[in-house]
Amino acid sequence: MTLKRVQDLSLKGKRALVRFDLNVPIDNGTITETTRIERVKPTVDLLRKNGARTIVLAHLGRPKGYDISLSLQQIVNKCAELWGCDVSFVADITGEKAIAAVAAMKDGDVVMLDNIRFEAGEEENDQSFVRALANLGDVYINDGFSVSHRAHASTAGLAGELPSAAGLSMQAEIDAISAAVENPKRPVMAVIGGSKVSSKLAVLEHLVDKMDALLIGGGMANTFLLAQGYEIGGSLAEPDLVPTAQAIMKRATEKGCRIILPVDVTATLSLDAPTEIYHGVPADMPKDFKIVDIGPESIRNIEAEISKIATVMWNGPLGVFERTPFDAGTVALARAIARNVRENNLVAVAGGGDTLSAIEHAGLADADFTYLSTAGGAFLEWLEGKTLPGVAALMA
Ligand code: 3PG
Repeated sequence: MTLKRVQDLSLKGKRALVRFDLNVPIDNGTITETTRIERVKPTVDLLRKNGARTIVLAHLGRPKGYDISLSLQQIVNKCAELWGCDVSFVADITGEKAIAAVAAMKDGDVVMLDNIRFEAGEEENDQSFVRALANLGDVYINDGFSVSHRAHASTAGLAGELPSAAGLSMQAEIDAISAAVENPKRPVMAVIGGSKVSSKLAVLEHLVDKMDALLIGGGMANTFLLAQGYEIGGSLAEPDLVPTAQAIMKRATEKGCRIILPVDVTATLSLDAPTEIYHGVPADMPKDFKIVDIGPESIRNIEAEISKIATVMWNGPLGVFERTPFDAGTVALARAIARNVRENNLVAVAGGGDTLSAIEHAGLADADFTYLSTAGGAFLEWLEGKTLPGVAALMA
């Protein structure tokens, strides 16, 4: 099975319904991060160049019915600016205004309909809503990998009604993630951080089968330290998942996947007033301290490990990176990866909201990695080995 590609669709004069993920952060009316808008520009360009009439379908937030604060009207000007073309906004989805606006389009025009989640039929993948949408178009393109874990009308349903294909950014994202997980240059290592084992259990279980090494950091490493018999004081952990962590370690040994845990930790009595900071092995940590980052020896360890591998896949910070100096482990990891991408051809793919913030915090950007995925839930589900409905719908 292969992914159908927008390059293979006949587009001239066609009404192209295009699903983008333009769910960008907005603070007081200002868009604070525009990567998702920028990433789909090549698809907009391709559609316009080939004479399609582009009808943009997208969502913002999780509205329950119409909610002006989540209208796509507030992003349309930014899209026009970053895509370098006129984009007309229609405050409608499948009603008379939308039908009239689409009927008036000329080849190369771009129209954006309002937040598709204002319609209940979207998330229900309701067949009559799918048909109403399909009536507006001749072809369907999904270029929103980060929303393709949802089986909604605009992410999955439409593919059953119209000739369909993946957009350019979706293709790039799937190629990059596959290159890191399905068919990587070896040795391949996954770095999984974040606070809870419970939220990434399925990811860990899937990755031990695929990786040569699995580096675990962040709060979730504490549960693994507990599983190894260390005292971790008042640190965040999930003691009821200790048997699960032990089972993952056992499975990793059977599958030849090395589990790399912090050998020392950085801990503090209080994150808010971090006057006393402990660096050292967990066994000697003062009882009421909390682990908030990996320690200096673990940082050296990670730098050495990163220089020995050919591919790395990273999701989740290694410590409380929002609070300096507890960003040291995460920043060192990000910089070690970037250095090896530059100097040693390391293939490095990272994804998830916190991970991208941490990379930005480390002063790094897109160009420092092989690929940075803006997907959160979709990225994790892919790492769990799940089939994403929006991707499956585009296979032939
Ligand atoms: C995201 O921001 O991760 C995507 O747009 C998906 O949003 P959702 O979790 O509300 O479906």
